[in-house]
Amino acid sequence: MTDATKSATLTIDGNAYELPMYSPTSGPDVVDIRKLYAQAGVFTYDPGFTSTASCDSTITFIDGDKGELLHRGYPIDQLAAKSHYLEVCYLLLYGELPSAKDLEVFESTITRHTMIHEQMHNFFRGFRRDAHPMATMVGVVGAMSAFYHDSTDISDERQREIASHRLIAKMPTIAAMAYKYSVGQPFVYPRNDLDYAANFLHMCFAVPAEEYVVDPILARAMDRIFTLHADHEQNASTSTVRLASSSGANPFACIAAGIACLWGPAHGGANQACLEMLKEIGTPDRIPEFIARAKDKNDPFRLMGFGHRVYKNFDPRATVMKQSADEVLELLGVENNPILQVAKELETAALNDPYFADKKLFPNVDFYSGIILEAMGFPTSMFTPIFAVSRTVGWISQWKEQLADPQMKIGRPRQLYQGSVTRDYIDIENR
Ligand code: ACO
Repeated sequence: MTDATKSATLTIDGNAYELPMYSPTSGPDVVDIRKLYAQAGVFTYDPGFTSTASCDSTITFIDGDKGELLHRGYPIDQLAAKSHYLEVCYLLLYGELPSAKDLEVFESTITRHTMIHEQMHNFFRGFRRDAHPMATMVGVVGAMSAFYHDSTDISDERQREIASHRLIAKMPTIAAMAYKYSVGQPFVYPRNDLDYAANFLHMCFAVPAEEYVVDPILARAMDRIFTLHADHEQNASTSTVRLASSSGANPFACIAAGIACLWGPAHGGANQACLEMLKEIGTPDRIPEFIARAKDKNDPFRLMGFGHRVYKNFDPRATVMKQSADEVLELLGVENNPILQVAKELETAALNDPYFADKKLFPNVDFYSGIILEAMGFPTSMFTPIFAVSRTVGWISQWKEQLADPQMKIGRPRQLYQGSVTRDYIDIENR
């Protein structure tokens, strides 16, 4: 925490309270209200944390008005074009781009942690075949704390590092196994000769009966999807991981909590919801009907894949994802896919509609990622698990940063109580 650069004065009932302010390296100044309750006896009120910074962080910065996303200072479009997922993982975890030697060691470490404990296979088999893979992932990742006891002591730095590596390495294996189980196919073991993204595609699509060769263009597109979703500062699932961790919970439990939060359609579940919406629209002539529904205050329907809490401009990840979608669809020869036609025309219609322009609602990353994943052959139910695989490094990096922060406290928001004041219990015969 830096020293206060200036202060703000808050006046309540004629009493003035001086509140320190801090200037970040980028972004708006923050007013420090930590002592406000002790000094003035009032709470602040901010449902949804729209104006509240919950922590100091040096990992990711978003300028929502400019449509800018930086990881450790590096713009996401440069990382997507020039780097690859495991290098971005290193950057997020350790703060700097790795040397060639450091990267080699890191990639080798992650590659050699990809298998899961053999007994965990039985755990998968306990789920119903029609379980949503996110349900399976919440359960299996939470269960990792029952299998990897030697990396649950958060006070031991080496154990924290091993847990980080295990989670980044095993998450694709777990997601692929959840998928294989749901389609009734045998689990495919990880292969150390393939890179992170190619290995994931192989574990999802190979079968023992024949050889499966991963197309390098698809592996590159998969890697880009992982890279673009790697971290996104204090979003709902990351804040969930931090809140769970603030009580001292073990890393596997914290990441399972993050996966549970990510599942919701307002967050990571939006990619599945978006593709389902595009299929429901079906043909371009029905777009005006759905745009009208999205604008109707009495209809809860929202255009999935549009809007963002922080971006009030184009989501920079969406721009890269759109290019990737074009490449993948061309490779697979599905440029004339009807879903893609609907997506393109919906995007144009919404961007030209004053409702969306006035509210600064632009397509977000999920608008395009689902189209790529569908073209690759993933069912919609796998879209959010793939997001969870990608985001694991972000969750872990934020968790690691939080545990090293001397200011860390248990997260415990206050409330604006609107319930009954004290009243006496009434015996049942008198109610
Ligand atoms: N379709 C139609 N109207 C919308 C949409 C949308 N997708 N998104 C926001 N609005 C409207 C709201 O109705 C609201 O209108 P009002 O001011 O007249 O009441 C206004 O825009 C602001 O919306 P809020 O819900 O207050 O904005 P918030 O920042 O809380 O929500 C969110 C952001 C949840 C992402 C929202 O835009 C949404 O639900 N989008 C669809 C789901 C989605 O795509 N989620 C993915 C997010 S990105 C990610 O997690 C990777």
